[in-house]
Formats: sequence, structure tokens, C-alpha cells
Amino acid sequence: MSANVEYLKCVLCGRRFADGEVYYTCPDCGPFGLLNVIYKYKEIKKNFEKKLAKPPAVNENNIWRYIDILPVDESVPRTNLRVGMTPYYKPRLLGEFLGHQNLYIKDDGQNPTASFKDRASAIGVAKAFELKKEIITCASTGNAASSLAGICASMGLKSYIFVPKTAPVAKIAQLLLFGANVFMVDGNYDQAFDLCMQASEEFGWYNRNTGYNPYLLEGKKTCALEIYEQSKGALPDYVFVSVGDGCIIGGIYKGFYDLMNLGLIEKAPKLIGVQAEGSNPFVRAYRDNKSRKLVDMVPETVADSISVGIPRASHQGLNAVYATEGEFIDVTDAEILDSLKILPRYAGVFGEPAGVTSLAGFIKMKKAGRIPDNASCAVVITGNGLKDINTAISCVNKAPVIEPTLDAVKKALKL
Ligand SMILES: Cc1ncc(COP(=O)(O)O)c(C=O)c1O
Ligand SMILES: [Zn+2]
Repeated sequence: MSANVEYLKCVLCGRRFADGEVYYTCPDCGPFGLLNVIYKYKEIKKNFEKKLAKPPAVNENNIWRYIDILPVDESVPRTNLRVGMTPYYKPRLLGEFLGHQNLYIKDDGQNPTASFKDRASAIGVAKAFELKKEIITCASTGNAASSLAGICASMGLKSYIFVPKTAPVAKIAQLLLFGANVFMVDGNYDQAFDLCMQASEEFGWYNRNTGYNPYLLEGKKTCALEIYEQSKGALPDYVFVSVGDGCIIGGIYKGFYDLMNLGLIEKAPKLIGVQAEGSNPFVRAYRDNKSRKLVDMVPETVADSISVGIPRASHQGLNAVYATEGEFIDVTDAEILDSLKILPRYAGVFGEPAGVTSLAGFIKMKKAGRIPDNASCAVVITGNGLKDINTAISCVNKAPVIEPTLDAVKKALKL
């Protein structure tokens, strides 16, 4: 609990709860009655602004810099891993290649377990300590899982984790090395999620699932707070985000929402949610007259982390885009794989397929002439390319094997 939280509010019925009164969703509205954490913005503002006026101290160069608007008290144990404060680059060559100079890359693959999800796991694990829970659980396409496992390892908390058995091997390796208890579910992510929910209910494990646990989004919002600081208040006009469940984009919106409530910004950038064509419930709702209702589907895409047919944070995901007058767009697997090659080649940043889906969305809109030339665009890269090396390798030609002689080098150079 944090003295700075004013209340939690159900996104469906608006019912308010005191911090700590309920652990998860609104009891009246069920699993889709997610709770939004509302802070005492007026009280926080002064101290927060003072803090932001100074650059972070070395030990503060992480998400805890924003503790004033996080739902955990200073006294609660938290990971010492450096979560957040990922780089915000202006990659000149990528900008030239894509014909858009005002382009920024937020490289969240540089989190401790190599994905954006560490932001949420850091909060989830701190909450587990606060609530004196001995076991934490989550279901995941792979990144939230390996992230939770890593943060747990740093703090000695036990985890039970459910992933589809098809998750990329690097993510499974992380899980096992971090010492998580892993269930490889013979099914897809949506089935792993349902199973995890049943198990956490049955065994009383603390549930880290985003789109269910209200505090996780609070970790994700720190990305927006960093973009605010790193862009020195000159916020981008557009922020491109890859979307599966809708939690990341919902979290990024929450960060901008908090900044608006603190009076630090007037409006949020337009959020562009990018999905894979084969896994696009948000895009379908957007095209259906900006509907607020998602229709489930069976997902199929190379971008495993966003292969989600039943998004769990539908309200937050839709709201992020609708409230900022953004858009949902989709891209083909071929476009995702093109971005997977373009980003490292022209920016030196290596993203996994879901990590670069955001960039594929930017490229598609840019090519369609739908982004004004002077608009500033930030693209969030949500996961590192080493997470799914098999897909990466399948996109490139093999390097020649040569004899260990200078002659062989000359021959290869055609000298
Ligand atoms: C690398 C990566 N990008 C994007 C996403 C999508 O996030 P969300 O499911 O919250 O929409 C995920 C989720 O697992 C992810 O791991
Ligand atoms: Zn409710």
C-alpha cells in the first residue's frame, strides 16, 4: 500500500475501493472489472516535480525514481535489479532509411530479463512481499514469465509459471535458470491463462497476471514517465506500441494520464496499437466503428508474444487508443520480419518479432503517407531479439564458412 494512492476505481461500474480492500478485479463486475489506481495527485505534485528537476542519482536510475506515483510504500522490499530507465535513442540512419528524421526508439529490450515486462514484475513482486505472500504465479506467452522468474530470483520468492509449450526456447531457458516452477501447457496462451487463474484461486498464490492484478499496469506506466523525461517535455506526437492483451499500451496510457493529472503535460501523444494480422481483435473492434467490444479469435502469428486471441485488458487497451485519438493497425508477419531486419541493420537495436511489430506499424503508416513529415514518433521496442533467435536466424542468409587462412579471406573478398 502507498499513502499516495487515493482509491482504486472499477473501469466498468466506477465503484471505488480503498487501497488494499480488494486484491484483484471488481467483485460486482467480475474478471473484466479491472481497477484503475488513482493517486492523490495534488499532494504528490510538489515533491514529484522537485524530484524530476534533478537528474537521477546512480542508485535511482530505475523505475523507483517514480515511487511517489507507484502503489508501493518506500519500506517494502524491492528488487535491486535495474528495471526501467531504458535508452531513448534518435537513430539517425534509421530515420534516413525510413525517410523520417523525427523518429525515436525506446529500447525496452535492455531491461534485466530483456523485455518490457520487468517493469510490471518489479511491482508485482514488491506487492507479494507487502502482502506477505510466499508464492506468486502468472501465465504468459513467455516474457512476463521469464521476467517474473528473474525478479523473483533476485529476491528469493517462489514462483509457479504457466506458458504455452510452444514458447521460444530462450524464454524457457530463462525460466528454468531463474529457478521458476514451470508448467508447459499443451495449449495456447489463452488456455495457459485460464489454467493459471484456476490454480491461483485453488492454491491461494498471489496472481501477477496483468489484466487482472490492478497494480501491474502501474509498473508499465513508467515507460511513459521515462519518455516524458527523456524527451525533455517535448513529448512525441505518436507512440507506437505492439499489442497482445492490451496491458502494455494501457499502462503507457496510464503514465500519460498520471502526468496530465499532475499538471505536467496537457495531452497524451496519440497511441498507435499495432497487432499482427493473424492476432488482431483490437484492430477488428477499431474497424467496427471503434467498438468497445472485442470478439475472440484463434491467433496465429510469428510474433509469439502477441499471439493472443482473448485479450485480457480489453478495456485498458481500447481506452488507451480511443482516449488519445490514436489508432489500431495491423501488419503481416512478412512486415514484422522486415522490421526485425531493418532495426538492427540501421539502428543497432535487436528486437524480437513482437518487439518490432511496433516499428512495422510505423513503417506501414509512414509508407501510406499517414504521418506528417514533421511529426515526432516514438517506437517502443518491447523485447530483445535474443529472446527468439530461431526466428531471427530464419530471416538472414548464412555466412560463408572459410579455411583459417588469409588466402581464404582474400578469396572470399574476391581480391
Ligand atoms: C515483447 C512483447 N511485446 C508486446 C507484448 C504485448 O503486450 P500486451 O500483451 O500487454 O499487449 C508482449 C506481451 O507479452 C511482449 O512480450
Ligand atoms: Zn465494477
